[in-house]
Amino acid sequence: MDPEWLEVGHLEDIPRLGARVVRTPQEDIAVFRTAGDEVFALRDKCPHKGGPLSQGIVHDRSVTCPLHNWCIHLDSGKARAPDEGSTVRYDVRVENRTVYLSLSPVAP
Ligand code: FES
Repeated sequence: MDPEWLEVGHLEDIPRLGARVVRTPQEDIAVFRTAGDEVFALRDKCPHKGGPLSQGIVHDRSVTCPLHNWCIHLDSGKARAPDEGSTVRYDVRVENRTVYLSLSPVAP
C-alpha cells in the first residue's frame, strides 16, 4: 500500500449523511458519506468563517455548514454560488468497504 494513503476504517464507521473527522498533524479532515455511499473528504473548515463542516448535514453531494448555512460541494470543495470560496479537498477511495484517505491535498 502506498504510504500516503491512510486507512480510515469501514464505510459503516461513517454515519450516512454525516462525517467522521480524521486528525492529522497538519489539520483535521472531514470524511463524508452520502446517501448513495459515496465518500468525499474536505478540510474540516468552512471557507466562510472556519465552521466545522464535519458537523453539517450532507445532502446530495454537498454539505451545509452548521454555522451560517453555506453549502459546500463535496466533490470540489467550492461554495455554492452566490457564496464564494473553497476549502481543500482530499482524495478518498473505498476498497471492499474499507475507506482510504490520501493525505496529499488536492488544489481547489
Ligand atoms: S462558517 Fe460556515 S457558513 Fe459561516
